Amino acid sequence: MRIAISTGGGDAPGLNAVIRAAVLSALGRGWEVLGIKRGFAGLMGDDEVVELTRDSVRGIGAQGGTILRTTNRGSPFAYPRQRPDGTWEELDRSDELIANAQRLGIDAIITIGGDGSLSIAQRLFEKGVKIVGVPKTIDNDVSGTVTTFGFDTAVSTAIEAIDKLHTTAESHDRVLVLEVMGRHAGFIALHAGLSGSADVILIPEIPFDLESVAKKIKQRDASGRLFSIVVVAEGAVPKGGEVSIMGESLPGQDRRVGGLAQRIAYQISERTGKESRSLVLGHLQRGGMPTGYDRLLATRFGGAAVRAVADGKWGHMVALQTPHIVTIPFTEALAGPKMVDPKHDIVQTARAIGISFGD
Ligand code: F6P
Repeated sequence: MRIAISTGGGDAPGLNAVIRAAVLSALGRGWEVLGIKRGFAGLMGDDEVVELTRDSVRGIGAQGGTILRTTNRGSPFAYPRQRPDGTWEELDRSDELIANAQRLGIDAIITIGGDGSLSIAQRLFEKGVKIVGVPKTIDNDVSGTVTTFGFDTAVSTAIEAIDKLHTTAESHDRVLVLEVMGRHAGFIALHAGLSGSADVILIPEIPFDLESVAKKIKQRDASGRLFSIVVVAEGAVPKGGEVSIMGESLPGQDRRVGGLAQRIAYQISERTGKESRSLVLGHLQRGGMPTGYDRLLATRFGGAAVRAVADGKWGHMVALQTPHIVTIPFTEALAGPKMVDPKHDIVQTARAIGISFGD
């Protein structure tokens, strides 16, 4: 058996732990393992396909990033190519990918990625590729799994930032607005905001009204709490408004969401007369060592992915359905992004202890 592993989309702490567990589990079965570099670019002739051995994965379990590198512009069904005049076109190169995989004697592929990579995997599966998936995203928005690896690390990074912002906000009687990742879902903002004792949390699932945010801040002032911490998911939306888009995205790339914190800080100042500052935590949330929780989950996913290959679970993704790792069809995971339930106990508890969602 010869399998190949690829990592696609934005990176997440724990990718290397998945790779390590999958490689060691596969080698233990006497299989050969290849690594496809930079998403699927390695299979398109635009990067390498390398052999993964015990030595290739030695010591990587604790490292952030991915030894295979990644890209969020690598769909073989819409592969970007620059024309001589500088403009871009997108080509369906999936047949080429499949032919190259066959030429290399690849029997099965393990793809580690979020919704984008999983939808590519589903289309490859429909074309006959033997493929299994491992869900990855710091945003925790993949359906069918209780959580994805990388999420816990991102939340820890965000909490550390909130803790640090508290001391400076309090010293200056300021409002500090922290923007965290979460295009479709507010899990990072919600979990970090509650754990870090934020005063306001704004998430895509609960449209906000800045009047309500300002009211909360004024109430705190009136009670002698002269500073406030607002945690905002990049994809949060004002009532009746649109998601905030930041800059241009490249061909083949999702639109870039963000830039909300700065606007909110300005509008809070206008409404409350208080000095406000903003910070975008950005890619710090994707970097660094995975937490113990993420390392364990990633390692479990890597081992389970190899078992899924052994069982011929093509078109399936490994998923955490506590306390077990199960496999579910890609189609179930792709039914729609997993989002925060506004009635979830975490939201209820946050409200009960006085956190405003700006609604
Ligand atoms: O990993 C998901 C995510 O973190 C989103 O929340 C964010 O919008 C996106 O990735 C940004 O990715 P990039 O800057 O790599 O395009």
